[in-house]
Amino acid sequence: MTDYQQLDQQAKQIIQQNDRGTYTIPTAGLYPYQWNWDSALTAFGIAQYDLKRAWQEFETLFSGQWENGMVPHILFHQQDDGYFPGPDVWDTKQKLASSGITQPPIAATFIRKLYEKDQAFGTEYVKKLFPKICRWHEWFMAHRLEKYGIAVTHPWESGRDNAVEWDQPLTRVDISQVGTYQRRDTSHVDADMRPTKLDYDRYLSLVYFGRDNQWDESVIRAQGAFRVCDPTMSFTLIRANKDLTWLAEQIGEKTERLQQITDELSDAASGLWQEDLKSYTARDAKDGAFANAISNASFLNWFAGIDNPVALESLQKIMAETPYAVPSHPASAETYDANRYWRGPIWVIMNTMIAMGLAEQGHADLAETIRQKSEDLIIKGGFAEYFNPENGAPAGGGNFSWTAACWLGWVSPTARQEG
Ligand code: GLC
Repeated sequence: MTDYQQLDQQAKQIIQQNDRGTYTIPTAGLYPYQWNWDSALTAFGIAQYDLKRAWQEFETLFSGQWENGMVPHILFHQQDDGYFPGPDVWDTKQKLASSGITQPPIAATFIRKLYEKDQAFGTEYVKKLFPKICRWHEWFMAHRLEKYGIAVTHPWESGRDNAVEWDQPLTRVDISQVGTYQRRDTSHVDADMRPTKLDYDRYLSLVYFGRDNQWDESVIRAQGAFRVCDPTMSFTLIRANKDLTWLAEQIGEKTERLQQITDELSDAASGLWQEDLKSYTARDAKDGAFANAISNASFLNWFAGIDNPVALESLQKIMAETPYAVPSHPASAETYDANRYWRGPIWVIMNTMIAMGLAEQGHADLAETIRQKSEDLIIKGGFAEYFNPENGAPAGGGNFSWTAACWLGWVSPTARQEG
């Protein structure tokens, strides 16, 4: 018999151990700062036991918002030498030290979840955060909207750092000036679970390019080597913008502009559909080339409120290839790797968003299958960063905040009882 209460307790303890007062780190050692979309998901977990602290997670995240509206992917609240590249490498010259890129904009979606738990309590928070989220969404529209959805300028922005979709576009990145550096990630986690040296050189080259151009989005747009329309960014922004529209209605704000953003984004993102793969995939903004690779982000269309029966068949087919699901890259693909970062393993956070979307779009059975498989993984392997789709083995960092949070908010039977 599974002791669900004990697992709930353990999940809560993990988040509390990773709590740094006003924000939560993903896991000690490997990720010692505040990450953008980790915080949004972690707040969703915290909201199950401490709503005030959950709201604070967002207040801290938005305290790092740039003048231009961008909300950075990492906030370096306190220097930690165990992580590279740190604030000195990014050199963004912001009041609160940060990276120079963003991450999937899921804040509005999970802010809505917090608000729905207690509207009276949440109203003041929503009123304060609403204009900030609007500015962030407008930043995407001004600087990242392309013909085929929202573009990322660095693989790290997508939140799926090492995904197969970036392989081809990354070949444009010049690594001749990268020089020597000391990686930190491989001192915390096995090297075969992490990106290769060549990939890392390219990641750094892109960081140096942004830094050398003072993180000016117009220069990055015109001259940056990497610009790829990404299903994660595009679908999460559509979803978040719909949730923001709903929140606007609740607090009596105008909704016209938000609706217009949703329409423009939805039109563009339909260009991510790759007919021969029967899936949404990333697409190079420079030449329109499809990434030709399915990922778990391919199935965020339901999360964005977009139903698609052909995509549903693809998802079912891929889920049938391994005992656990949803893999970040299908086991049948040549480029699949069961252990390496975002090239095969399962992320419970992605399962949560995929299944939330499926359930909302009338596919409750499939959503429940994904939830059940997520439950099996956590019972067997604990609150790991990610999991092997073949044997369910935990991989990457342990005691991970967002895995614990998704347990509390969605996977655990306790969460379901609460509805
Ligand atoms: C890795 C993941 C990214 C996440 C970060 C912190 O970089 O790819 O999605 O936000 O770790 O957990």
